[in-house]
Amino acid sequence: MSRTVHTSVMPAEALSFLALRPGDRVVDGTLGGGGHTRLLAEAVGPTGLVIGIDRDPGAIERGASAFAGLPVRLAQANYRDIPEVLDALAIDRVDAVLLDVGLSSDQLADDTRGFSFDSEGPLDLRFDPTEGEPAWRLVNRLRPETLADLLYEYGEERHSRRIARRVAAAREREPIRTARQFAAIVTAAVPRQYPPPRIHPATRSFQALRIAVNEELKSLRIALERVPGRLAEGGRMVVIAFHSLEDRLVKQAFRNAQVWECLTRSPVEASEAEVAGNPRARSARLRAARRLPDPPAA
Ligand SMILES: C[S@@+](CC[C@H](N)C(=O)[O-])C[C@H]1O[C@@H](n2cnc3c(N)ncnc32)[C@H](O)[C@@H]1O
Repeated sequence: MSRTVHTSVMPAEALSFLALRPGDRVVDGTLGGGGHTRLLAEAVGPTGLVIGIDRDPGAIERGASAFAGLPVRLAQANYRDIPEVLDALAIDRVDAVLLDVGLSSDQLADDTRGFSFDSEGPLDLRFDPTEGEPAWRLVNRLRPETLADLLYEYGEERHSRRIARRVAAAREREPIRTARQFAAIVTAAVPRQYPPPRIHPATRSFQALRIAVNEELKSLRIALERVPGRLAEGGRMVVIAFHSLEDRLVKQAFRNAQVWECLTRSPVEASEAEVAGNPRARSARLRAARRLPDPPAA
């Protein structure tokens, strides 16, 4: 298993909002390369515990060797199942939860998963390669209108109909299999722009397919509903989102004044210095909230 190539986003900001103390128990629902987990483990110290969760078996395998001997327990699971993970560890409530959602640079760098535009690997795009439908099957199966709606809804792709028509024509000739093949079809479908855009023309389409095959918005919505039930009074939750659809869900959830005291009026963004060193941080939006006490029983 290779070393992680992922750089954690807004580590100082996340730690500051989580306000951890030695001995705390904290869930990192998106282990990824383990950068945040390591900082959390340092903050809670040997008497505390970090529960690191990821859907990706590769992230868990890497974490198992990186965190051997540290107060870190790992679980390959969906973060929407945090209550079940805690039940298995006989833990009722934790002091903090961090979610840094989306894709890691390790997944992007893995040529067999199809996350990068020039990958010769299958267009898979699943975080857990054993669960659900790979993206190549979706693009070969969906009716063009349905595919266009998906690209528009999850990718905010303005050229969704043109792309879906091109996909339909291409798959008549031969099935779409690789990430590179799909990226080339999308690139040919979208009108050329001058000056050329900062992002690859297939970025939005890849994002849309990835969100769909992993049910990313559904997982986040469910996690936001379920986490308060397992967070101690005064416990903190921090979510780092990478596009507006996710950020909107977090913003709406933290607005519930029965449950949360929102600690971020507007989302926190990465500093210019961080973005200069890690361009991925450019689109990150961090929101934090504190769990309010349950109202007294009537
Ligand atoms: C941005 S990376 C996290 C990086 C990590 N915070 C770090 O410092 O290295 C996102 C990770 O979340 C995982 N992930 C995405 N959705 C998930 C879900 N619903 N449940 C569990 N893990 C998920 C992905 O597999 C990926 O490894």
